[in-house]
Amino acid sequence: MESAAPISRIALVGAGLVGASWAVVFARSGLAVRVYDLEPARLPQARMQVSASLDALLEAALLTEPAEIVAGRITWCDNLESALEGADYVQESIAEDVAAKRELFARLDAMATPQAVLASSTSAFPTSAFAGGLAGERRCLVVHPVNPPHLIPYVELCGSAVTAPETIDTALRLMQRVGQSPVHVREEVTGFLLNRLQWSLLAEACRLVAAGVVSPDAVDRALRDGLGRRWAFMGPFEVGDLNAPGGLGDYLRRFRPTIEAIDAASAAQPLQLDESLIAQLDADAQQRLRSPRDVRIAAREQRLLSLAKALRDA
Ligand SMILES: NC(=O)c1ccc[n+]([C@@H]2O[C@H](COP(=O)([O-])OP(=O)(O)OC[C@H]3O[C@@H](n4cnc5c(N)ncnc54)[C@H](O)[C@@H]3O)[C@@H](O)[C@H]2O)c1
Repeated sequence: MESAAPISRIALVGAGLVGASWAVVFARSGLAVRVYDLEPARLPQARMQVSASLDALLEAALLTEPAEIVAGRITWCDNLESALEGADYVQESIAEDVAAKRELFARLDAMATPQAVLASSTSAFPTSAFAGGLAGERRCLVVHPVNPPHLIPYVELCGSAVTAPETIDTALRLMQRVGQSPVHVREEVTGFLLNRLQWSLLAEACRLVAAGVVSPDAVDRALRDGLGRRWAFMGPFEVGDLNAPGGLGDYLRRFRPTIEAIDAASAAQPLQLDESLIAQLDADAQQRLRSPRDVRIAAREQRLLSLAKALRDA
């Protein structure tokens, strides 16, 4: 199944936002990439997205080679068979639809070379949901990035109970080699790690807003102007270690009553994310975040680029 030789050829299936960004990640590391999308019109758009991303990386001095050299490693394919040619690692990034992913993984398992690892970018479906029962389930796993992966290195890997340890190892090594920051989630827990953390925080924010304790703007400020400043370069355990004279143990012992009280209060009041709360939060966002979404998405990309540069220089 998994090759002992290092991975050299990548197939990307699905060339939307995430697929096009994966193309940049692999190509800038010197790997040959073949990309396929069901919608032929999507390929020229993805090619433009890749080109814009490479130009921006170059301008920020975050690319070590000319953009054309990197772009030249990417082959745009009009059918799946051609994309899979010689691939030893396949990264699926089609729409978040479990039936479509199941169908595609059955085809990938039948068509890809026997040693190829088959990975999904899915944000929420466990491997068993789209690869369970396949002859090649051992070579399937989730490799879930944060969008856009060429600017945000974290990636989480999670297989099913059937996924072979060698599959996880191969994917971990590949992610390290292409400059990502991989973690292995050892069980198929809901939300893997990142969304579990992100959505726990979001649930707490919704609870506080619904109870009228704070506004949505206050939540955004607490994260953007507060916690997020530190979290851009250290996690909560590292923060705790620095925030008490005796380190993390001291921090946890000092704040244990408060931490446990907050956790108990949350558990006693499960979130009701009902339509009226959704409408309230949406109306607030429409009113507060006025500039068009595409402008804000471009600004987010620009800031991520500046942050990547600042963190590298630090
Ligand atoms: N957007 C994010 O923030 C984000 C972050 C992490 C993971 N993901 C996951 O990545 C995956 C892709 O997300 P996206 O935002 O790039 O979606 P997208 O809608 O931008 O792109 C999906 C692409 O897949 C193509 N496609 C659909 N079915 C196909 C098939 N059978 N074969 C080949 N191509 C097919 C579509 O034509 C489209 O171009 C999803 O599973 C999503 O949950 C998304």
